[in-house]
Amino acid sequence: MESSWLETRWARPFYLAFVFCLALALLQAIKLYLRRQRLLRDLRPFPAPPTHWFYGHQKAFFYIYDPDYAKIFLNRTDPKSTHLCKFLTSCVGKGLVNLDGPKWFQRHHLLTPGFSFNILKSYVEVMAYSVNTMLDKWEKICSTQDAALEVFEHISLMTLDILMKCAFSWETNCQINSTQDLYVTTMVEASKIIFYDLYSFFHPQGIIFKFSHEGCRLQEISNMLHQYTEKVIQDRKKSLGDENKQDNTQKRNYQDFLDILLSAQAENGDSFSDSDLQSEVNTFVLAGHNSSAGALACLLYHLALNPEHQERCREEIRGILGDGASITWEQLSEMNYTTMCIKESLRLTPPVPSISRELSKPMTFPDGHSLPAGITVVLSIWGLHHNPTIWEHPKVFDPLRFSQKNSDQRHPYSFLPFSAGPRSCIGQHFAMVELKVAIALILLRLRVTPDPSRPLVFLPQTVLKPQHGLHVCLKKLTKC
Ligand code: HEM
Repeated sequence: MESSWLETRWARPFYLAFVFCLALALLQAIKLYLRRQRLLRDLRPFPAPPTHWFYGHQKAFFYIYDPDYAKIFLNRTDPKSTHLCKFLTSCVGKGLVNLDGPKWFQRHHLLTPGFSFNILKSYVEVMAYSVNTMLDKWEKICSTQDAALEVFEHISLMTLDILMKCAFSWETNCQINSTQDLYVTTMVEASKIIFYDLYSFFHPQGIIFKFSHEGCRLQEISNMLHQYTEKVIQDRKKSLGDENKQDNTQKRNYQDFLDILLSAQAENGDSFSDSDLQSEVNTFVLAGHNSSAGALACLLYHLALNPEHQERCREEIRGILGDGASITWEQLSEMNYTTMCIKESLRLTPPVPSISRELSKPMTFPDGHSLPAGITVVLSIWGLHHNPTIWEHPKVFDPLRFSQKNSDQRHPYSFLPFSAGPRSCIGQHFAMVELKVAIALILLRLRVTPDPSRPLVFLPQTVLKPQHGLHVCLKKLTKC
């Protein structure tokens, strides 16, 4: 009788391989099961929704929104969660935002002088020029057609314009013709892909993302941004090296970010390559202009909804700036009420609503509860800023919460729009200066009221972004 296929000598190796794979799969399943049980045990002390029978809490992250928890979380050195970094890294490479460990420490040390008050001081004029360009546009629109306007697009181009000038003194005229400059259009597209709904469970991951439409486009964008910045860097090096030419810094009256990076590179040679330099410049433009645009848009929205606070800011600004023909660094520190309104807006609508880390070792909170290593923890800045145990009537816009007297009594980790600890925002003073200059000049020239037919809705993104733009009504003010 003919022997069956299983009994042939060829079948034996396949059979053994099959048994081996089955054993491996079984081992893996047991490992996963044990890990799941351990996680369930570790997370039991914390309040949580019921687990799904199959994927447990896979669709959720571990959120914290308590100042004592935030303090512990922010003063550790856990690496950033790979969710944001994956997209950012594939687009602009490794910059300060997505570096970790000793490399981050070294880079942070090199770049901090670039945000000293002396450097920021010189940016005030650059910022005012860009804001006035936007306001000229708005005034033209106000005098010719209905004053209701979508302003978020304008604000984003304005903050991009500022960042490009402060980063590498690039005059793109992007506020007048945004489609003319390839770097500008590419940056705008990169922001849309990178800050796409990153926390979505269904967002393509790993290799699938690489071959998705967005993944391929991100690769093209990355090449374009790198080519552009490479050229800018080479041109600047050439002009600095040419002793017969006058130094650009002297011509500009301010040191741009590229000047600072190039001197850091000159001092640190091999540890800071041209490719590192390109990544840093692109990271700053990307990280800086998106969050500032979100912050200014929200501030305008809150002041539109609260005309009494808008008027109080305007009176304060008129008292300091007169007709606003010029604006100086010293004048910014006199804007006390306006600063309180900016802070209250950052509290109610933090432009970076959450930040996350992957725990490299267990984390124990002051109440004794612990989280295991390997888990992704999200600090919900939004949750913290709306926590009713810290903020009375958290949904109400009340700038007086930030008066000296009221702030003194509050936990120092209750208000964290720029995060805190070693990985806090390096651009926070830059952003505050930009917000003050922008709101001061806007309020001197225009009155802002809400457009009741178009309420503000946010997209759940890494950086807050209005889903359908920001629609407000603008009225040109006559000079007093
Ligand atoms: C209102 C505007 C801004 C807000 C609300 C904001 C908020 C933040 C937050 C919350 C972080 C911490 C992120 C994390 O830990 O994952 C951060 C980091 C950072 N921000 Fe900002 N930011 C703003 C403007 C800017 C600007 C204008 C720049 C650059 C010019 C900038 C550059 C950076 C960089 C480089 C980091 C990473 C710092 C590090 O990890 O050492 N930001 N920002």
